[in-house]
Amino acid sequence: MGANSNRRWSGLVRAFWTRISELDLTVAPHPVLSSMPGYQTKQERIAIAGADDLIIRSLLDRRQYFDPLGEADRLGISSAEWPLFGLLWPSGVQLAARMALRPIRRDERILEIGCGLALASLVTHRLGGDVTASDCHPLAETFLNQNLHLNRLEPLKYWHAHWGERELPLSQARCTIQAQYDLVIGSDLLYEADATPCLAAFIARHSAPLGEVWIIDPDRGNRTAFNRQMGVHGFLMREERFDAAASAGVAACKGRLLVYRRAAAVFAFEAPGTAFMGWRAAGNSNDPVALERAAEVRLRRSA
Ligand SMILES: C[S@@+](CC[C@H](N)C(=O)[O-])C[C@H]1O[C@@H](n2cnc3c(N)ncnc32)[C@H](O)[C@@H]1O
Repeated sequence: MGANSNRRWSGLVRAFWTRISELDLTVAPHPVLSSMPGYQTKQERIAIAGADDLIIRSLLDRRQYFDPLGEADRLGISSAEWPLFGLLWPSGVQLAARMALRPIRRDERILEIGCGLALASLVTHRLGGDVTASDCHPLAETFLNQNLHLNRLEPLKYWHAHWGERELPLSQARCTIQAQYDLVIGSDLLYEADATPCLAAFIARHSAPLGEVWIIDPDRGNRTAFNRQMGVHGFLMREERFDAAASAGVAACKGRLLVYRRAAAVFAFEAPGTAFMGWRAAGNSNDPVALERAAEVRLRRSA
C-alpha cells in the first residue's frame, strides 16, 4: 500500500471510531444494566416535562444493599432504607418538572434536601441556577457525580446533610454552604413519622427569613404532622394538587406541592390585596398565632 492509501485508510478508521464513540449508547429503549461491587445499577433516559431529558444511573431495584464499612448503619440507615436514595421516585420527577418551569434568578440560592438522585438539582443546575444538593446517604454524592458526568454537566455543590441529630456542624460540611437559602426544595420526604420534628426544624434553620419551601408529597401519611411542625416554626402554607399520568420510565404520581413561606415573605412577595389568598397557617387553618403574625406584618407594612 502506498503512503496515500495508508493515509486514506487510517482516516477511514479514525472516522469510524469517532462515529462509534459519539453514539449515545444510553438511548437504548431498554435500561442499560451494570454491576458495581456489591450492588447493581441501571441507566435510563428520563423525560422531564419542560426540560431536556436526563440520563440517570440509578439502583436496579429496592433489593440492593451494600454497606461493607457500616457507614450507613452508623447514620441510622437500615437495610430497608438503604436503597431509597438510589431509586427513581415519581415525586422527584415532578419536582424536577416544577423547577424546569421556575424562572432562574441568578441571586437566588437553592437547597435540595433528601435529594436522592437529585433530578431537580440537575435540572436547575443545567438551567444555570445556584443549587446545592444534599442527602445523608453515603452514596448520594457518588451517584450525583456520575449523573453529572453522564449528562456532561459541570460539578454541582453537594452537602452531606442529615436532618436528624446527626446533622454535621457547618465547619465539618464537605463543601461551603450558605447557612440559609432562598428556596428549599424536596420530594417524597414525608414517608416516616418524625417523632422529634427534625425535618421541619432543619428546614426552618436553613430557610432565609423571606425564603420559600417547596415539598412534593405523594400523599404520604406523615404530611399532617409535618404541616403542624412547620406551623410551629411560623410558616404559612398553600398547596396545589397534581395527578400526573405515567410517562416513559416514570410511574404515575398523585399528590401535592406544598409551598411554605413565613408571613413576612408572603406579604413581601404576593400582590397587595391578594397577598394572603390561598395561604393558611401550616397545620391549622385557624392557628391564631400565625394568623395574628401575618396580620401584624400587614399592618406594619401599610402604616
Ligand atoms: C424516598 S427518597 C426520595 C429521594 C428524592 N427526593 C426523590 O424524590 O427522588 C428519600 C430520601 O431522603 C433521604 N433522607 C432520609 N432521611 C434523611 C435525613 N434524616 N437526612 C437527610 N436525608 C434523608 C434518603 O437518603 C433518600 O435519598
